[in-house]
Amino acid sequence: MTFLRSALLAAALAAGALTPAAAQDAARGAALAEARNCAGCHGAAGISELEKIPSLAGQPAEFITLQMILFRENLRQAEPMNQLSQGLTDQQVEDLAAHFAALAPAPPPDLAPRDAALAERGQQLSASMNCGVCHLPDYRGRNQIPRIAAQREDFLRHTLAQYRDSQRRGTDTNMNAVMYGVPDDAIAALAHYLAHQPARAE
Ligand code: HEC
Ligand code: HEC
Repeated sequence: MTFLRSALLAAALAAGALTPAAAQDAARGAALAEARNCAGCHGAAGISELEKIPSLAGQPAEFITLQMILFRENLRQAEPMNQLSQGLTDQQVEDLAAHFAALAPAPPPDLAPRDAALAERGQQLSASMNCGVCHLPDYRGRNQIPRIAAQREDFLRHTLAQYRDSQRRGTDTNMNAVMYGVPDDAIAALAHYLAHQPARAE
């Protein structure tokens, strides 16, 4: 399994590195997203209004591409995405990624009122756990590392607990190691803090 993951990652990276710049087509991606009704769950313009469903607007294209391939190959298990990604070609995945990466990020529509003490604790945890080292100091992400600023708080809580409990694995085990043994209240503080970070575009 580890070998398969590494091989897929290598293949995805090679594809990204070798594909001419013109090959990703955001307009084609927009048409496909419309045909497949991605907005039905991920929201108009990629800002999710549904519980535990992540916003996609402004995610790095490489992150979206890789996650779609992980879904398609059943390496990241999360219905309905495994089902929905079946049959998508690498080209279609890259087009979808280019489309969502180009959309402007925005605060989650259900943003809870900011709790100063909780946000402060989240900020301290983020600093001591080096979240900004990989996700960048303003948490906008880069390459295969996702944007986590202004993501939905409920999705952040859900997915951080999944990493901790080894229910979600990525192409590497970084996040499982980061979240190992982290209690629920610390996860809640991190999620609250990150959901309230400004939704800066690149
Ligand atoms: C029926 C609802 C539904 C539809 C339609 C849908 N998605 Fe999703 N999607 C989800 C859910 C739920 C998750 C989160 C799964 C989890 O990790 O718990 C998700 C996760 C994702 C992720 C991972 C994002 C992240 O931050 O981890 C990507 C990328 C994605 N979807 C892309 C798409 C694209 C592209 C389409 C259209 C082709 C689409 N989705 C259509 C429900 C949907
Ligand atoms: C060593 C680098 C590294 C550090 C440190 C790190 N992350 Fe990550 N993070 C990643 C990578 C790589 C991914 C994508 C992994 C995958 O494919 O699932 C990720 C994914 C995530 C996701 C999933 C987002 C989504 O939309 O699916 C969240 C949430 C997240 N990280 C939060 C955090 C928080 C909070 C911290 C600090 C407590 C942190 N990360 C520290 C590298 C890191």
